[in-house]
Amino acid sequence: MSDKQFVNTLKMIVGVLVGSTVAVLALANALISDADYSRSTIIQEDIEDRIKPVGSVHVVNGAKVAGNTSEASASHTNDAAEPTGLSLEQLYNQACAACHMSGVLNAPKLGDKAGWESRIAKGVDQLYANAINGIGVMPPKGGRVDFSDDSIKKIVDYMLQSAQ
Ligand code: HEC
Repeated sequence: MSDKQFVNTLKMIVGVLVGSTVAVLALANALISDADYSRSTIIQEDIEDRIKPVGSVHVVNGAKVAGNTSEASASHTNDAAEPTGLSLEQLYNQACAACHMSGVLNAPKLGDKAGWESRIAKGVDQLYANAINGIGVMPPKGGRVDFSDDSIKKIVDYMLQSAQ
């Protein structure tokens, strides 16, 4: 074998070695980053799931609706129809309790005499109108525009009775 042939053969061998090393590195890199990606995505989702707030405010057609994360998105959609055959208490629970039970956003609480007194002073018709059209941060009908005006009035009566 001449020197020239030897050098050429050596070059070829080194070339093949370098080439396959690069190929193995590239493959390993692709596998590792793929695995890392899916693992970190799962961990991220896991963390987000664990630290998500218990309740949230959903915006439905510009109306804020507070409630449990899953319930709110399931039940406060625009095409929801007013449920039939429910008692006033059940209607109140569905549409108003999210705010008026806890007093969130300064909503007057059910049964809170003092909280309702100043409002009752406006006259019941004004309270009906405000409940139907919305007042301050309370959206029209508490976000349940599928409820009839009549039902809203009856629920307001129910709320006022609780504060007698
Ligand atoms: C998103 C939270 C929220 C929901 C849901 C909600 N309210 Fe309210 N409501 C409020 C807040 C906040 C106020 C106080 C607003 C203010 O005085 O600025 C209020 C006030 C009222 C008032 C007093 C209005 C006045 O003139 O003083 C009535 C009556 C009322 N709500 C009825 C209802 C009824 C009936 C429902 C269910 C159909 C309902 N609300 C659902 C937040 C809510």
